[in-house]
Amino acid sequence: MGRMVGGLTVFGLLLASAIAQPNQNDWDIYSFHINSTVSNRYATTVITSRVANRMQESKEIEFHVEIPKDAFISKFRMYIDGQPYDGVVKTKEKAQQQYTQAVSQGQSAGIVSSVGRTLEEFRTSVNVAANKKVTFELTYEELMRRKHGKYELKIHARPMQPVRDFKIDVYMHEKAGITFVDIKGGLSTKELANAITKTQEDKEAWVHFYPTVNQQTNCDGCGEQGLDGELIISYDVQRDNGFGDIQKADGYFVHHFAPSSLPRIPKNVVFVIDRSGSMSGRKMRQTRIAMVKILSDLDEEDFFGLITFDSEILYWKEELVQATSANVETAQGFARSIQDRGATDINAALLEGARMLTRYTREGSASILILLTDGDPTTGVTNRGTIQENVRRVIAGQFPLYCLGFGFDVSFEFLQKLSLMNGGVARRIYEDSDADLQLKGFYEEVANPLLTDVTMIYEGGTNLTQTNFSQYYNGSEIVVAGQILDNNVENFIPQVVAISVRRKVTFTEADTGPDPIENTTDSVLQRVWAYLTVKQLLEKELLLSGNEKEKVKNEALELSLKYSFVTPLTSMVVTKPQEGDTEVLHKPEEGKPHRNRHRGVGSTARKQGTLMVGSSPISRTGIAQMAPRSFHPELSQLNRGRHSSRFPALEDSSAHHQSQVLPGPPAHPGVAGLPGVPSSSGSWFVPISLDDFQEEIDPTLQPPPVLDEMDYEEFLEASSDSSPPVTVKHRFWIKSDGPSRPLCFDIPGTVVLKLFHHPSRELYINGELDSVMYGGFKKIVIRVGSDQRIEVDTEWITVQKGQTVSYYRGLDPIRSGSATIIRTDKEIDIEVEDIRLVIYIHQKDREVLLWPVFRQIPSESNTDGLLVLKAAVYQISQRVPLTKVKINKSEVEVTDAHAIDYSLGSHRSMPCFHGSADQILPRPLSHFLVNQL
Ligand SMILES: *[C@@H]1O[C@H](CO)[C@@H](O)[C@H](O)[C@H]1NC(C)=O
Ligand SMILES: *[C@@H]1O[C@H](CO)[C@@H](O)[C@H](O)[C@H]1NC(C)=O
Ligand SMILES: *[C@@H]1O[C@H](CO)[C@@H](O)[C@H](O)[C@H]1NC(C)=O
Ligand SMILES: *[C@@H]1O[C@H](CO)[C@@H](O)[C@H](O)[C@H]1NC(C)=O
Repeated sequence: MGRMVGGLTVFGLLLASAIAQPNQNDWDIYSFHINSTVSNRYATTVITSRVANRMQESKEIEFHVEIPKDAFISKFRMYIDGQPYDGVVKTKEKAQQQYTQAVSQGQSAGIVSSVGRTLEEFRTSVNVAANKKVTFELTYEELMRRKHGKYELKIHARPMQPVRDFKIDVYMHEKAGITFVDIKGGLSTKELANAITKTQEDKEAWVHFYPTVNQQTNCDGCGEQGLDGELIISYDVQRDNGFGDIQKADGYFVHHFAPSSLPRIPKNVVFVIDRSGSMSGRKMRQTRIAMVKILSDLDEEDFFGLITFDSEILYWKEELVQATSANVETAQGFARSIQDRGATDINAALLEGARMLTRYTREGSASILILLTDGDPTTGVTNRGTIQENVRRVIAGQFPLYCLGFGFDVSFEFLQKLSLMNGGVARRIYEDSDADLQLKGFYEEVANPLLTDVTMIYEGGTNLTQTNFSQYYNGSEIVVAGQILDNNVENFIPQVVAISVRRKVTFTEADTGPDPIENTTDSVLQRVWAYLTVKQLLEKELLLSGNEKEKVKNEALELSLKYSFVTPLTSMVVTKPQEGDTEVLHKPEEGKPHRNRHRGVGSTARKQGTLMVGSSPISRTGIAQMAPRSFHPELSQLNRGRHSSRFPALEDSSAHHQSQVLPGPPAHPGVAGLPGVPSSSGSWFVPISLDDFQEEIDPTLQPPPVLDEMDYEEFLEASSDSSPPVTVKHRFWIKSDGPSRPLCFDIPGTVVLKLFHHPSRELYINGELDSVMYGGFKKIVIRVGSDQRIEVDTEWITVQKGQTVSYYRGLDPIRSGSATIIRTDKEIDIEVEDIRLVIYIHQKDREVLLWPVFRQIPSESNTDGLLVLKAAVYQISQRVPLTKVKINKSEVEVTDAHAIDYSLGSHRSMPCFHGSADQILPRPLSHFLVNQL
């Protein structure tokens, strides 16, 4: 093994010099390691970069990395010629003094930091003599936050060169036990798949990412500059008892509380949506899309209100109403019609939203107020202090207020204060193509309250972090840290008291016998405590003024200094070997987009040349990062070629359709009138959305309930229940054998359908129907054997090969194993072995639905599934007073109906005979239902 690695390294070296030469000939990063240790959900990451000056003269060598925003840098060290130079954390003022002194001597440049969506930049540079080496070592720490039921460790790597010794090592140790570890992100794409290894045991897990130089230059999104992307490691831990997981050591404790087996608390939520002029265009559009989706996710037990505001307030309804499907539907109509106009009266809108909630009281429920705005108050009450006071007075601690700030025109600090004063948090929504997903993602974090009035009690504890939480949501976690008085574990009694629906519940520590005394020097718990305490003091400081503010500030400062955290109150001073050359590192402020905050401050002419100001765009989006950015001209050509010649804009004309030819090997003689359809799949299934055939629904039929981990029998039983909730039905049709009309039937939403199954080859295609109004498929999964899986949803293509999962969103072609996937705006063309599947992306209103059609299938006869049904053979046996048709040997009653044909690039409505799925399909519908994708 060792020898093999050696061989690879030599090869890598050759490649590296060949590639790195053209634009990076003065220095060489010969080693770049990222080592992350996660223990008790606290991650300590060390980035080590070793660089050699290959020139015959001294050179300014730069170190430039991106670290998560929530992290605190705790250590920075350079080794020059074996000599260490440590950064020292000082108060901001002291650091500034030292800095200006150095600046006045014309010796230094500020470290440029800027803020991106999830990352901050760290840069420094140092002068290195000819043929000498420098090692940069940066350590940062962060407490993992549980969101949507998982923790995410994000590691960003952009060494700016291919590096022959490149390693990312992650070690996780969780006493509670690790339930899963998933790897995604832009560095987890197919070319890099075999560079990743993952090992997971009960309480430990390891992830190693060792790409070769070849992989670093040839992967998607890589190039001459080597890797640039994120590795995202998500995981969760075991949660057996409701009390959670409490660690005690060294006089400190950290309590992770995240019970999940609790009933959901019905919620009352009011959305206050800014529709002022500044929201116009994409922001407004994305808000509408997000609101339509969010509304459809409301639970039927929830009550909700919807207000939009500019200088005036527009209600959907003046009071809260229950989230019945009828109400949700009309609210969605309202949400779709929100138009931008006018100024921003945040005060009036928030007060009205709060009043709606306070007027409506319901025992055993949880109220939530959500504000979405993109600007500062411009009309009505505009004084921010007054607004804050007004809102605090009306809310009076009764429920949390969450403020979502859209873009950067809004004073984030104002929203932050507003939220913190009212037990909530503020979030920024980044103006980007995924803004609607950000909005929805935030909503999902608070969608399922499980507890209210959570009080964490620690008898025998002191210096506790926040202990009272107004609400606890499913998928999140409450973390409290503190000290144990006199390190007396015997007298330390933790307890959680909260309200679950209408009951008071108490959680106590399970009696696991005496804890194994861990009086280690391991200071992780202490650092978790310090980290949380500093974060919370900084928030608290925001809300205070005068002496109190100073006091809290000093407390935070002292802790930052003691634990050597670079926080907004401290700076790190880096003294370099040359003539006391100094740099100062500040933690940048949130709310300043990609701006260099210290640019030019004291930059001398000499240094300006070496400072890379005008920052390269930091990943504005953690998400966009995942999409591969490389461009393959030849594939793209192919792509375009296909689009134009094979599927020329399929307009609504059947004459047009007939003229189309399917190039390439004809798999089967095509069916006349339909382009390239194999005759054996003489069936077409066409979903149709509720609003298309609303008037045609037989009113005597009970709408079936949403299927949720039920088998079909249960589903049938449940549908005979007296008051099932309404769900969307999808209408499918089967082409008829002769010239007569197709037959059609309905399948309710949120079931998974067997589309295709090729047993001898272990090839499966399943599709999940959407439950929202517009229907269609929301996800289609293709599985080949046991180790390849392709999942297509309306946003992403997820390709899993073995242990590696890659996510794609762009239009770049994807190759993985035996599959080639080509995506355009309108369709996704997937070739796997000798199968070709086209998934049309139909746009309906603003919703997207997927529709799969085979272009080529193998000729074997033992295939099964909805996509390969034979054309229906039937005779009309009676037309009046009722229509009856004879299918197989049985007589079936049908009605005249319409279905929409989505099996082409465009959709059209056509008449069909409608009956029940069980009667029309050659086998019972249950045969085509599967449990999971
Ligand atoms: C990573 O850091 C940990 C803790 O400092 C250390 O024990 C471990 O050896 C390091 N791993 C590697 C591969 O350098
Ligand atoms: C909470 O989330 C878990 C999975 O994350 C899920 O199994 C459970 O049903 C959820 N509970 C409620 C009440 O939503
Ligand atoms: C936390 O809640 C408890 C009981 O609800 C209350 O007695 C206590 O004062 C609260 N503590 C803080 C810091 O708000
Ligand atoms: C345990 O830790 C405490 C506090 O750090 C210390 O005073 C005590 O001596 C330690 N005990 C042992 C057995 O190491």
